[in-house]
Formats: sequence, C-alpha cells, structure tokens
Amino acid sequence: MATPSTKALDLEFVRSQFPGLDRSWTFFDNAGGSQILKGAVERINTFLYEKNVQIGGSYTVSQAAAEALYEARTAAMHLVNASRPEEIVFGNSTTALLQNLARAMHSQLLPGDEIVVTVSDHESNIGPWDRLQERGVILKIWPLNKQTLTLDLADLAPLMSERTKLVCVTHCSNLLGSINPIREIADFVHAQGARICVDAVAYAPHRAVDVQAFDVDYYVFSLYKTYGPHYALMYGKYDLLLELDPLYHYFYGRDKVPGKLEPGNPNYELAYSTCGIVDYLVALGERAGETGSIRQKIEAAYGAITAQEDALTERLLTYLRSRNDCMIVGQSLNRDSQRVPTIAFRFDGREAADLCKAMDVEKIAMRFGDFHSRRLAEYLGLTDHGGMLRVSMVHYNTIEEVDRFTTALDRILAGEAGLAKAS
Ligand SMILES: Cc1ncc(COP(=O)(O)O)c(C=O)c1O
Repeated sequence: MATPSTKALDLEFVRSQFPGLDRSWTFFDNAGGSQILKGAVERINTFLYEKNVQIGGSYTVSQAAAEALYEARTAAMHLVNASRPEEIVFGNSTTALLQNLARAMHSQLLPGDEIVVTVSDHESNIGPWDRLQERGVILKIWPLNKQTLTLDLADLAPLMSERTKLVCVTHCSNLLGSINPIREIADFVHAQGARICVDAVAYAPHRAVDVQAFDVDYYVFSLYKTYGPHYALMYGKYDLLLELDPLYHYFYGRDKVPGKLEPGNPNYELAYSTCGIVDYLVALGERAGETGSIRQKIEAAYGAITAQEDALTERLLTYLRSRNDCMIVGQSLNRDSQRVPTIAFRFDGREAADLCKAMDVEKIAMRFGDFHSRRLAEYLGLTDHGGMLRVSMVHYNTIEEVDRFTTALDRILAGEAGLAKAS
C-alpha cells in the first residue's frame, strides 16, 4: 500500500500536465470530475488520427487498433494491479458498468438469494442491485454507525446468511471522504461464502488501487474523476468474469472475456487514454525517486499524491474546525491518511445553494446537494437547507487555493460578499 512520500510533489510539473488548470478558476469539484491529463488527450488524438478503424480486420491498421486496445487494458491492469489485461472491462460510466454487472448476474441469482448494499454508497452501487428485487432477490441494507460514521462488520454480520451472494460497498464515500477497510471487509464477506463488489470512484483518484491486495471480486471506478475522459473501468476476477452472462450477441460465448461484457465494443479512443494516465503516474513515481517496476512507480506516485492531499486536507479541516458555526460531515481529523480531500460541511442556518453560488462569483468551482448519495444524506438528516457544501480536491490543488477559498468564505459568511443569511 502506498505510504505518504516525504519527497514533496513537484506542483509545477503536476499542474503543467493538466492544461485545464491554466485558467483563473480554482477547481474544487474534482469528486464531480477532475481535469484531464494532456497525455490522456494525446492518446485519444493519436488513436483517432492514426488507428480509427474497427478492430478484428485482417488489415494492418485494424491490427494496430486492436493492439492499442490491448495496450489500454494492459495499462489498466497496471493501474489496478490486476493479474491479466482480460480482467479489465471498459464501459461508459461506473453507473453503466454496475448496471451491466447486475444484468450479467441474472442467471446466477435465484429468487430468495440476498444482496447487501450499504446506506453510505452512491446510488450507482445501490440502484442496480435494488432493481434485482423485481426478480425475487432480497436486498438488505448495511447501516452506517451514526456515532462513528463507520461501516462496522458487527452490523454486517447479522445481515449475512447462506443465501447472501454479494456485498456491495464503497471504498470511500463521496460524501464522508473516509476510506473503508476494504481488505478486512472482503475477508469477512469471503469467509461467509459471498462476493464483494466495490465502488472505488471516490478512492481511485487519491490512493493506489491494488485489487490483488484488496482481494476484491468486482471493482469499478470512473476515469473522468481519475484524470482521464468521460469513461470508466471495471476489474473482475477472471474466473468470476467467465461465470457472468454474455451481454453481447448470442455468438459471444461465456468464455469471451471481457468482450462479452462490452456490448457494441468499448470506445477505443477513450479506453486508450488510460495509457496516458499510467504514463503520468509512472512519471510522478520516477520524480519521487522510484526506479523499479511500473507498478512500484505507480505506488510511489500515489505516495506523493497522498502527502500533498494530506496537507490540503489539514489546511481546510483546520479552518472548518475553527468556525463554531460549521458542521463537518464525516471525520474532522485525518487520522493515518484515512480521509481523502473530499470534504462536505454545512453552516448553521445557511442555504448551501446560496453559499455555493457566491463561490461561483469568486471563480471557485464547488458543489452542493447530496452528491447522489441520497440515502446517506437522508439517513444522516442532512437534506434540509439544500444539503451540504462539498470541496473536493486532488493533488494538483494548492494550499494557496485553499486559502483563497477560506478567505472568500469568511467574506461571504460575514455578508460582505455573495448572499445574506437565509431566514
Ligand atoms: C462514489 C461514486 N460512485 C459512483 C459514481 C457514478 O459514476 P459515473 O458518473 O461514472 O456513473 C459517482 C459519481 O459522482 C461517485 O461519486
């Protein structure tokens, strides 16, 4: 697992890799979508200009396109530490991939089988499983401990039975920002004879993914929040992908992994952008002093990313903790780097929408609402006053940007800028 690096991130290099940052905006809505890497765009262009044909043809350009797709799966394999490129399934979005996964499980789920989802997940990893109730599958909800705001195995245990087939859980809540102990959960789930499906959308931009170390069965995240374009990928253990129902034409048999799970084929150029993401992480790893394998460089990169993110998290949490009118949603301390810089909060009696829109004027891009973790917002009673404000940062954000935000917020809250206090 990546540990925070002591070598400071070269922010000038980092920011130069994201052309979208070269504007006057402060982007604090990265959990909504990050800026894209120049290298990812270049890969997309290269594919479109040089290899833009259908794969599967006998001619050389078609073979080059197929090789590019394989290179993309190989890059994704390194990114998540899968054991082979065929364990990577590309898709339009995390939502679409999870819906597809649920559909591809139809023949292995019988009426009376059970699936557990958590109340703290984004709706993407609840809705597709919820819909299986139409087929007689029973859905159980793993609650969050309201005191500690953690998912406790003690609350999962009574939900498990010999009919439990799958536990669906987020690696990191996009609202609470805290990382769940996925390996521990996976071990527990496996010991009960079930499988685990993890939503890693709010995790993958911040920490090294290692599906083998996590021992997860299905693991999904979105590239557009991990420095790439609007696209997503799912890892699945090879043997489990073999068991899934084909979603493509009838002549795509069960053994056609992963093609049978990519109806209409993946988007080649967007898949190919994954190579640009991995190139960048490798470059970051080298700058952090790592000279070993691609995987070691990726882990070193995330070590440096974590160190920068910890500094940003601390700066913002320190400010929010200092205000007696602010409620931080989630842990107010970042113990052992277990909190990513996705930080939701509320101000007493203030409308989240008003504060957020006042930030638009400051050219600080952030978001308010429930961030599609609606069940969690309702469970925690955080839906009034427009929900929560959320600042979601990544490693390319700076301490200066945090200070710009807090200075603007002080002015807005004092009524010197933006809108006045709601009645
Ligand atoms: C934690 C989490 N899961 C899932 C999703 C859905 O991802 P996608 O837009 O790729 O379907 C999001 C998007 O905001 C998210 O934050």
